[in-house]
Amino acid sequence: MKLIAAADYRDMSKKAAGIFLKQMEQKRQSVLGLATGGTVKGVYSELVELFLEGKISFAEAASFNLDEYFGMKKEDPNSYFSYMQEQFFSHTDFAGESNYIPDGTAADPIDECSRYDRLIEQSGGVDLQLLGIGENGHIGFNEPGTSFEIGTHLVGLTESTRQANARYFEVMEQVPKEAITMGIGTIMKSRKIVLLASGGKKAAAIEQLWYGKVTEDFPASVLKLHPDATIIADEEALSGVR
Ligand code: F6R
Repeated sequence: MKLIAAADYRDMSKKAAGIFLKQMEQKRQSVLGLATGGTVKGVYSELVELFLEGKISFAEAASFNLDEYFGMKKEDPNSYFSYMQEQFFSHTDFAGESNYIPDGTAADPIDECSRYDRLIEQSGGVDLQLLGIGENGHIGFNEPGTSFEIGTHLVGLTESTRQANARYFEVMEQVPKEAITMGIGTIMKSRKIVLLASGGKKAAAIEQLWYGKVTEDFPASVLKLHPDATIIADEEALSGVR
């Protein structure tokens, strides 16, 4: 696992966008694994800027998002579908049908999960996966205790994750209790992984990720077993790493 120190949020986002730019230069048909949340917004705006400057094109690329709330319609402003349209897809030249996100309204979620893993495989697998990290070490919505082997699955969200996401909802009761997420087994199949962290709230998680042991109790620790995983963290997130 490699660690890149960034000065601040903007620098972290630029460094991550640089890795995407390189990936797209090397392979126009790249399959990108994408995340949502606050941390990765800056990367999307950097990539949109690169696109508007004519330096990057996603016309031949495909993307797979990590997760979607279960029971949430695409059109809901809080869905990850809406987030991705707003932050990234609608400002770029992706061919619409090549942006995959789990269907949160699937009648049979188990079936939806295996369909999603199949689609990733049929696309040739993820070339570059972007990740954020939860304060409890989650990646995607793989909460502490999740098996490292598991594929895409339906998961119950922990109280701490629901609290962390509550800022986007009017009242706590509206925060979904379940999500469909790529599993750790799925994430680990990506050829290259970049995990971002920004701010003091992530400092303890980054300290544990860097110094701690590999354990299912801290899902992100699995990245130590990946041949090409990089953390990009800003100064505040790195305050526990010397
Ligand atoms: C989002 C996701 C989550 C977030 C994590 C950090 O698709 O899978 O694992 O990356 O919860 O969220 P932020 O960036 O909002 O702190």
